[in-house]
Amino acid sequence: MKPLSKEFEETLENIDITKIPPEEEPNRQYYFIKKMREIIKQEEEMLGRPLTCKSVCIGCQMNARDSEKLLGILNEIGYHETDSEEADFVLYNTCTVRENANLRVYGRLGHLNSLKRKNPHMVIALCGCMMQEPQVVEKITSSYRFVDIIFGTHNIFKLAELIFQRKVSQKMVVDIWPDTEKIVEELPSDRKYPFKSGVNIMFGCNNFCSYCIVPYVRGRERSRKPEDIVQEIRQMVQDGVKEVMLLGQNVNSYGKNLDPRITFAQLLRQIEEIDGLERIRFMTSHPKDLSDELIQVMAESKKICRHLHLPLQSGSSRILKIMNRKYDKEQYLALVDRIRQAIPDISLTTDIIVGFPGETEEDFEDTMDVVRRVRYDSAFTFIYSKRTGTPAAAMENQVPPEVVKPRFDRLLKEVQQIASQVCSRDLGTVQKALVEEMDDHDDSMVTGRLSNNIMVHFPGDASLIGEIVPVKLTESHGFYYMGVRAEE
Ligand code: SAH
Ligand code: SF4
Ligand code: F3S
Repeated sequence: MKPLSKEFEETLENIDITKIPPEEEPNRQYYFIKKMREIIKQEEEMLGRPLTCKSVCIGCQMNARDSEKLLGILNEIGYHETDSEEADFVLYNTCTVRENANLRVYGRLGHLNSLKRKNPHMVIALCGCMMQEPQVVEKITSSYRFVDIIFGTHNIFKLAELIFQRKVSQKMVVDIWPDTEKIVEELPSDRKYPFKSGVNIMFGCNNFCSYCIVPYVRGRERSRKPEDIVQEIRQMVQDGVKEVMLLGQNVNSYGKNLDPRITFAQLLRQIEEIDGLERIRFMTSHPKDLSDELIQVMAESKKICRHLHLPLQSGSSRILKIMNRKYDKEQYLALVDRIRQAIPDISLTTDIIVGFPGETEEDFEDTMDVVRRVRYDSAFTFIYSKRTGTPAAAMENQVPPEVVKPRFDRLLKEVQQIASQVCSRDLGTVQKALVEEMDDHDDSMVTGRLSNNIMVHFPGDASLIGEIVPVKLTESHGFYYMGVRAEE
């Protein structure tokens, strides 16, 4: 368990748990954290051993950040993190963006049930995007009765209260909010890496791309106040963070609902000023409203990394229109030109969907054409997955798998071929790498991340982890480099 922050402990000391819980947040949660600490202590005394927890996270960086917050709460109330699902508290933070993410969760539930039969103290909790879908909750509450707690994406801050409810009621607790205006600040979080961290700058999505479930499960767009974001990052830097990843479904619409209004580019300027912070990344940037102001800020910045994830989805203007992406092929290509002109060494990556309803061979060729022209460093390629409740799921011209699969394979091959050429462009140069971990295969080597998001393996030991060091890139292996440490 991580040492607790002194201020947090002082706040908890002032909370009286013999009284009824306060209404306002985050004090209400502090109250339940303190209550739960007592309950966990009693259980530990009764069992004569520490209580353990395991948190599993599926999905995007937004979910990963949520899981850090959830684990932070579990730690504060006294659970000890373990690697195994044979734990006293197992939490699955779920994703529903594609069908296979859902199947994975149902697949795991049977296994969890068998573990629970052996350990009657075990608590199973499910949360995240999948739980925001009424048909999923219905299925779990009727067919998976051994699940103890179900909550959604809007009330993760309530975890301590929900566990408390479960412990006192002995009944399944289901708490799903359809949407929220609320952003609860100042709760604990347990970061995966001491030297880098995700930072939410906004929640939800208003774009309603016609294939996508995210706006339905994450609710409407809400931006955090710039001062709260800057304060959080300052605190992180004090704790040793060197690199932040600013997170939002579309960071380019950051600040639109704030008073006073502020643009994402202006927020970046404020974050750039934070002393001790060395690298800034962000995702995701929707091409429809990526401003020239943002390109300029990136070009001038010393801290913003040379990497932009710019999801294409399709290269066909016809399909893009039906996808409701609000840009066409030519606008996307023109945007890429503007970015490359201002920041020649930038690495571009993307997301592409193959087999959207009605996609013809000609549409698909347009996607291939954009891929060949932009020459991405890497691309996440997805087979279109029908998500119930989205407009695209109701479209009649779904493309059969035997047509989609060969297209997908062709695209993947093209993407990989281009990537292996593009990714070697810095061969022979010296670049700074943030060392993230020991090399998986060789314990005399470490693995670091370059500004453009490519990994480099080079000789080094554990003392380098978390340091930013210059590395000469001596060999290119397509998606990664081998290197040696260079002089400062
Ligand atoms: N907000 C981000 C994307 C979040 S979802 C953006 O706008 O780029 C991550 C990726 O999943 C998307 O970019 C898309 O390529 C893919 N995706 C979303 N819905 C999908 C679906 N129904 N089928 C297949 N892929 C999908
Ligand atoms: Fe989904 Fe589109 Fe929102 Fe991204 S911008 S989360 S793809 S609806
Ligand atoms: Fe999945 Fe939810 Fe992220 S659906 S992709 S975890 S926002």
